[in-house]
Amino acid sequence: MKTIQFDTQHLSRFVDTNELKSLSAEVLEAKRTLLAGNGKGADFLGWVPLPAEIPAEVVDGIKADVERLASKAKVFVVIGIGGSYLGARAVIEALQGELGGLRADSRFPKVVYAGHTLSEDYYHELMGLLDSEDYAVAVISKSGTTTEPAVAFRIVKAHLEQKYGREEAAARIVAITDARKGALHDIAVEEGYRMYVIPDNVGGRFSVLTPVGLLPIAMAGFDIDRLLQGARDMRKVCIDSDSVDENPALLYAALRNILYRKGKKVEMLVNFEPRLKYISEWWKQLYGESEGKEGKGILPHSLCFTTDLHSMGQYVQEGERLMFETVLSVKAPQFGVAIPWDERNLDGINYLQSKSLTEINHNAELGTILAHCDGGVPVLRIELPGIDEYVLGQLIYFFEFACGVSGYVLGVNPFDQPGVEAYKKNMFRLLGKPGYAEK
Ligand code: PA5
Repeated sequence: MKTIQFDTQHLSRFVDTNELKSLSAEVLEAKRTLLAGNGKGADFLGWVPLPAEIPAEVVDGIKADVERLASKAKVFVVIGIGGSYLGARAVIEALQGELGGLRADSRFPKVVYAGHTLSEDYYHELMGLLDSEDYAVAVISKSGTTTEPAVAFRIVKAHLEQKYGREEAAARIVAITDARKGALHDIAVEEGYRMYVIPDNVGGRFSVLTPVGLLPIAMAGFDIDRLLQGARDMRKVCIDSDSVDENPALLYAALRNILYRKGKKVEMLVNFEPRLKYISEWWKQLYGESEGKEGKGILPHSLCFTTDLHSMGQYVQEGERLMFETVLSVKAPQFGVAIPWDERNLDGINYLQSKSLTEINHNAELGTILAHCDGGVPVLRIELPGIDEYVLGQLIYFFEFACGVSGYVLGVNPFDQPGVEAYKKNMFRLLGKPGYAEK
């Protein structure tokens, strides 16, 4: 079994075993609270059993929709924002690569995104693409009322109806939303769209293993059974073991809280594989929205190395000592690329010629970890055996479980997000939305 490994070998000079021991009781209590469902935000714990309990008919329905739509769409537009967007993009980009060249099978449509921005130029560009390509759409919103995806859907729906006629347009739209309420729910019922439900008890940032993430991921040609299997296997690890040393999610939750209490207020999730960039974006939302409240919480930040070693590397090495680093390390690449021998060696890198790029990348990683530790930055490391659906399923569940435990150790409700309403109220007032203008 290809299992992700949590590695603390570079942490010993920053955290001693007694500190870990003394936090263990709190961490185990947090885990018990999470599993008993008697803590803050307990109405939103539907993600805990999700990988084991997702109904087979939902997964089969998704596969049938993929077959139906992939045959007539070259492009698949995924409309959503925040938790209704980031998980799908994280998995798809990790699997297909930054340039899309690692895609499983080109008979599947190219996934593009909308509803995650209000940029007019972005929509101009998108509509230009949709003018010339056959496409289908998933519109995703749990509340069904979020402004950004609502605006995007209105634009795309009008274009789709003009291009294919109303009936065929409706057959090319899948709506993923609440079972009973919200504007999107009502539109979908009225227009007869294919619909999937986001369970009431699963919050947006924990919804990647529902149709919110599964439909776009399957549409991009990836294996959602393997993704769910990875999550199921990691769930067993997270739930079965009460040993903070052995349970990676408990260990991660414990260590980040120990470091936070020692003044390490920023966590940088770093990778050496650019295709993991959106995994970091998803992780930032998961931890930022879950923990950043009541004046508390580790600030989640992310960097892509070695690229960012040539920009933020200076700050990490010598700037204010307020951060720790969690490295996502990938053991094996999917493909090999040879470094050619050059007789003249004008660039002086013939000494690298017998090495693989991965060997060079791994040495860059180790060199970076050692330098950052020397510079006073504690480093945690998560080793992925490779990047595939099964490994990503494990990683997702690992981060989700650790997040729930960590939030409870911090003493907040990890499952609400009251702060995201503030900008909306101002925006609605400024735009003159009925009911807001006078506020
Ligand atoms: O995690 C969350 O709850 C948020 O990021 C939401 O997913 C985001 O605001 C989009 O909300 P909705 O799915 O209701 O459109």
